[in-house]
Parts: sequence; structure tokens; C-alpha cells
Amino acid sequence: MDINNINIEEIVRQVLSGMTGNASSAPAPKAPAAPGAIPKTARVAMLTSLEHYDIKEFPIPPVGDDDILVKVEGCGICGTDAHEFRRDPFGLIPVALGHEGTGEIVAMGKNVKVDTAGKPVKVGDKIVTCMIFKDDPEITMFDLNKKNVGGADVYGLLPDDDVHLNGWFSDYIFIRGGSFGSTFFNVSDLDLDSRILIEPCAVLVHAVERAKTTNILRFNSRVVVQGCGPIGLICIAVLRTMGVENICAVDGEQKRLDFAKRMGASMTVNFKDHKGIEALAGAVQDAFGGHLADFAFQCTGSPAGHSNIYKFIRNGGGLCELGFFINGGDATINPHFDICSKEITTVGSWVYTLRDYATTFDFLRRAKGIGLPMSELITDRFPLDKINEAHQTNLAMTGLKIAIINE
Ligand SMILES: NC(=O)c1ccc[n+]([C@@H]2O[C@H](COP(=O)([O-])OP(=O)(O)OC[C@H]3O[C@@H](n4cnc5c(N)ncnc54)[C@H](O)[C@@H]3O)[C@@H](O)[C@H]2O)c1
Ligand SMILES: [Zn+2]
Repeated sequence: MDINNINIEEIVRQVLSGMTGNASSAPAPKAPAAPGAIPKTARVAMLTSLEHYDIKEFPIPPVGDDDILVKVEGCGICGTDAHEFRRDPFGLIPVALGHEGTGEIVAMGKNVKVDTAGKPVKVGDKIVTCMIFKDDPEITMFDLNKKNVGGADVYGLLPDDDVHLNGWFSDYIFIRGGSFGSTFFNVSDLDLDSRILIEPCAVLVHAVERAKTTNILRFNSRVVVQGCGPIGLICIAVLRTMGVENICAVDGEQKRLDFAKRMGASMTVNFKDHKGIEALAGAVQDAFGGHLADFAFQCTGSPAGHSNIYKFIRNGGGLCELGFFINGGDATINPHFDICSKEITTVGSWVYTLRDYATTFDFLRRAKGIGLPMSELITDRFPLDKINEAHQTNLAMTGLKIAIINE
């Protein structure tokens, strides 16, 4: 642990404890912790009402034989956090959010020896959490090929309890062992930005694995990626690390399309430049030199986006629909023209498996190795006490990935 970090942390805590109003609901710690020591309390950003976090201070519980205490370094804001912030669709308020986080192990119980992949762990290692299998704590990544995270819990979306240190938008997170069913990975060899991007990248590693099951996506395929938010941009990056080069990105935001090019798309189509689906499909076909796409990834939550994408795909082509993580409503398609007569093979893709997480670490190393601008996906960085501003910036959609970075 870095002595400078501790000092900054103490200063922030003192400033916070001196503030009135919504900053801190618990009394400030009596004496500052010595450098390197674990403090008695930790700040946790609690979503306490719609569009409002309070920074609360909670005691750090004693670390049991199977538990891990992690000092949080940073955490990305996800689309799911944005939904929770605006509408609380999961009914979790008050809740400690943040599931795209990473940090350093500062204490762990004597029974903790290896991570979920069997890699040794020690105090000082950097980790990320994956899902929590409460109903199946014995599950390992080797019997999980077909099981995705659906139905499992994750840190950052847990109901509040007497531990409170349940989300990554915090100073410390408390990873519970044993029958709690936590899974976690030692990712000490990845830099902070890469570690923050692991969770969203795993979504795309999984989507591409799903796409490969169709046997249509190949080395030299013509691929459309529709939607150039973080998800579509990372999709392009995963395809590039696999050697797929013939990629056409479709979006309505020129800035995002420009970034898609830097991420490795060879062509872009701005749907706002084309009136009607026929003209738009024509533009995609032109981009591929007169051919339709062999395969398409649908990375928007827009029903119109789903309806349109079939028109970009050739007869016998394939589609991976991954944009509808949230119910965005019904989409109209023509089963005759869009699926039946074209013999389109479609796959859905929903989050990831533990194994996809392990693949993602390799993907991130390779993406960096071939010079993809992954770190630039993180466009805005805020300290924990600016979490409300960070979420508002995320809602304004002026950047790409917004992250909370602890000093
Ligand atoms: N399958 C999963 O497990 C999973 C996981 C995470 C996110 N998602 C979903 O993926 C989607 C994308 O996530 P994101 O973070 O990149 O979101 P985002 O909102 O930042 O990006 C969506 C992009 O799609 C573009 N777009 C909207 N309508 C379009 C249309 N008709 N044609 C072309 N482009 C259009 C927007 O301009 C925007 O750039 C979201 O809907 C999210 O819920 C799915
Ligand atoms: Zn997420």
C-alpha cells in the first residue's frame, strides 16, 4: 500500500467528516489509521434514493478465515448502474452499487489460498470479483462452460445487509468466502484501466464465443457491428484480436464512429446520413464492396436497431443479438424476408461465464499488444465523493466509460 495514498485518503475523510448534510451519516473515525494499517471504517457510496448517492461510513468487519478485504482502486459505471440510479428496477435502494471494480487485497483469512481459477493469491495482489453462486458454492470454472451469470448474484447488486461493504463504489469491499459462493480472480498483471474494463469485455468475449457456435463467423468474414457505445466498441476490439478485419461499424454518432475506426473497424456507416432502411442497407452493402455482411452483432438497446440489422445480413448469414440486456420493448421483423427465406442463424448472448472471464484477461493483454486504444474507452474519471456527478455525466452520454478512481 502506498503511503501517499493513505495520506490523501485521510485528508478526504477529514474533509468529509467536517461536512454537514448528506456526506456522511456515521460518526467519523476517532483517530486516523496509521499508514499501511487497515482503518476501522470505510466509505461506501450508497444509492439512497433515485438519482442520489450518500457517502456513508461503515465499520470494516473482522475478516473471517474464508474472507477477503480489498482496498478499492477503481470501478466503472455500467449501463445497469445507470438504470438502477434512475429507476431502481431491481428494488434494491438503499444499495451499494459498483460491479466493474478492482482493488488490492489488504487482508484475507487463513483458508484463502487460490483464486477461482486456482491461481495463488496473497495480500497485495489485485483482484476482480465475478459472480456469486449462493445456491452452488462448489461450482468451478471447469464445469461452467454452458452456464452464464443469469440467476447468480454479483457484488455491486446485492441487497444491503449488516456488512454494507458490498459494492465497488467504496473504499473497501468485503468478499465473503465459504458458502457465500463468491468467485474472484487474481489479475495483478493487468493495469488499472484494463482491470476496470474486465467486466464489460467479458460480455463481448462471451458474445463472440456465442457467435462462433454458428460456424458462420470466420477469419475473413464481413462483419457488421451495430451500436458503437462501449459494448459495440469492445466488440470490434475482440474481433480484431481474433484477426477479423472486415468490420463495418454502424451508429448515428460520428464521434463514436471515429473511435470505432481507431478500434479497428475498416468502414463506418452513419445511419443518420441515410433515409430509410433500404438506403441504409445499401450503404452497408457499398461499404463491403457490394456484399452484405456474413455476420452481424446487434449492440444497441433500440428496437429499430434490431429490426434493421437483418437487412444488413446475406442469405445464410448469422446474427448475435446482445443489445437487449434491459427490456427495451418489442421489435418488428418480417419472418419471411428476415429469417426464413434468408436462413439466418441467430444467437442471443447474455453476460458471461467464469471461463469467459479467464479468456478476457488474455484478450486484454492481446488488445494492448496489437495497439488497440482500450484505455481511451475510459473517458471520464471521478473520485468517490463525486459519484453523483459521475452518474450524471454517464447519463449525459458525452463520454464512453465513466469510472470512479480512488485516490
Ligand atoms: N448482453 C449482455 O450481457 C449485455 C451486457 C451489457 C450491456 N448490454 C446492452 O448492450 C447495449 C449497448 O451498451 P452500451 O453500453 O454500448 O450502450 P450505449 O447506449 O452507450 O451505446 C449504444 C449505441 O447505439 C447507438 N444506436 C442507438 N440506436 C441505433 C440504431 N438504430 N442504429 C445504430 N446505432 C444505434 C447509439 O448511438 C449508441 O452509440 C445496451 O442496450 C446494453 O443494455 C448487454
Ligand atoms: Zn456491467
